[in-house]
Amino acid sequence: MTNAQENRSNEACVENYRQDFPALQQTISGHPLVYLDSASSAQQPACVIDTVAEYQRNDHSNVHRGVHTLSHRATEAYEGARDKIQGFINAASRNEIINTSGTTESINLVAQSYCRPLLSAGDKILATELEHHSNIVPWQLVCEQTGAELLVVPIDDRGQLNLDEFDNLLTDEVRFVAIGHVSNALGTINPVKEIVEKAHALDIPVLVDGAQGVPHMQIDVQDLGCDFYAFSGHKMYGPTGTGILYGREKLLEAMPPYKGGGDMIIEVSFDGTVFNELPYKFEAGTPNISGVIGLGAAVDYLQSVGLQQIAQHESWLLDYMTREISKIDGIRLFGTAENKASVQSFLLDDIHAHDLGTILDHQGVAIRTGHHCAMPVMSFFRIPGTARASLALYNNAADIDQLIVALKKAQQLFA
Ligand code: ALA
Repeated sequence: MTNAQENRSNEACVENYRQDFPALQQTISGHPLVYLDSASSAQQPACVIDTVAEYQRNDHSNVHRGVHTLSHRATEAYEGARDKIQGFINAASRNEIINTSGTTESINLVAQSYCRPLLSAGDKILATELEHHSNIVPWQLVCEQTGAELLVVPIDDRGQLNLDEFDNLLTDEVRFVAIGHVSNALGTINPVKEIVEKAHALDIPVLVDGAQGVPHMQIDVQDLGCDFYAFSGHKMYGPTGTGILYGREKLLEAMPPYKGGGDMIIEVSFDGTVFNELPYKFEAGTPNISGVIGLGAAVDYLQSVGLQQIAQHESWLLDYMTREISKIDGIRLFGTAENKASVQSFLLDDIHAHDLGTILDHQGVAIRTGHHCAMPVMSFFRIPGTARASLALYNNAADIDQLIVALKKAQQLFA
């Protein structure tokens, strides 16, 4: 197939996928909704919404605790979702899949449970200037608690990591590396496999913040070789309040619990408590049962579409979007790395990003504006924020065309 034929066949598939998403079938201010804010939260397909509703209607009960039918059904669906997620990211064992409330909780769990006991004054943690706040602040907290220091790998004007500087900073004083897979503000894909190899050569464990990686590419944690991989359900077409921490079993086994409560114990007395085995040791209290079951349905959906197909379509569409936006006089692009996924940040003339977002909303186009929880990236470019259009499997060229029309209209309004 030629590129043009391939793109036409992709577009035909995308038309079908769009029908799977009820939220996309609406108009905003009289315009068909163009949803370009999936990096913030992706829309959910009907199969996810229906799975959650079905569970709530018929099967709702608590998990792991009851002898009755509903509790069995709920437990089976909840644990079944864990198995799906294990397969989805190719983890070696279901014990390596910890349900959390999202990427943020997953990273905090590692900071407090793995790093805090390990660190002392003078130790270093290595992160990068590209990180989302959720991959910065947990490390700052643990540094304050232990006297360790947070080192930062700088970026260049295109939003790419300075890998020479990474090499310089990666000394034997570094106890841990925390790195984003894909930048939420700029779309840069980091060479995480190479980074893991370099860190492991010095026996330094690595956490990958995969919140913006999982929805856009096939993740194989064993191939990446990372020690921890954190991601959120709502960015991969699943419910909010769900997320996963993948951790290598050996490391999770050795870590103390992060939270105490029901379900994470085998025996409790005032003489002491025996903790439950993995993965339950890290799942204190009644979990987000319906959400996790919905996340399992999102995994089924993503696998039915195919991550390779998604990556190919989004890559083509990102090129198209970037090319078309660049043609507008007065556009400044932020994030022009060679290897990118799904996101383009920009500013237009001297229009404030929030004003731009509001004018676009009046034309049915949903984008995100502001610092995108990545203030250090904004500081690097000496700007308070950007407008950001982000893509998902359901976006098409017509969405981009409507974005361009809306941007030109905003430009006229502010001229
Ligand atoms: N992290 C989310 C975003 O990038 C909220 O928009």
